[in-house]
Amino acid sequence: MLISPSILSADFGNLNKAISMLNESRSAMIHLDVMDGVFVPNISFGFPVTKAVASMTNLPLDVHLMIADPQKYVNQVRDSGATIMNVHQEACVHLHRCIQSIKAAGMKAAVTLNPATPVVMLEDVIEDIDMALIMSVNPGFGGQKFIPSALHKVEQLRKMIDSSSSKAIIQVDGGVNLETGRLLAAAGADSLVAGNFVFSAEDPLKAIAELAEL
Ligand code: DX5
Ligand code: ZN
Repeated sequence: MLISPSILSADFGNLNKAISMLNESRSAMIHLDVMDGVFVPNISFGFPVTKAVASMTNLPLDVHLMIADPQKYVNQVRDSGATIMNVHQEACVHLHRCIQSIKAAGMKAAVTLNPATPVVMLEDVIEDIDMALIMSVNPGFGGQKFIPSALHKVEQLRKMIDSSSSKAIIQVDGGVNLETGRLLAAAGADSLVAGNFVFSAEDPLKAIAELAEL
């Protein structure tokens, strides 16, 4: 399993320590949750923090944009060090165009679905994207409870990808722990985001290693 720890739950007063820990861990990438207070009812951080994280690691940066009109910021996201630019389907009127701009800027393109958005919304772009993210909580906050309908959505998405020529990986975000992670692995997920489970663990390196084994 590819693990992408979310630094939303890290100690922002000591980001250096958190990133050094991730550099030593079995993380496949680092998940950065950008929130604008418009698309979601919370504000987190933006490009200066993404740039700071980029300067501390060689791990790919998986930038999850919970913002309105993400297509306006493609170049800034790229310049802040993102490897994957992940936009919400619900935030993009012209999703196909947005995906093409992300790829033209040299990044991998990912699209996220909120819990109430059906998997079929990805059908016509599935061959254009590198990653699809199923939200298993409503976006905006760390530490929420896993919404079980995400499992069926992962199964549906797995079928959609496997019956096409898409090489997209399936990521799941929200309420991931060893128990929900095991269910998600069985449903066909390739990658798990984990915030609280990693950063509130007594031994975060062990928590990441255990998820990576799933
Ligand atoms: C929620 C964010 C998540 C969050 C996950 O809006 O997109 O990435 O940090 O946190 P946990 O793993 O604590 O649910
Ligand atoms: Zn996220």
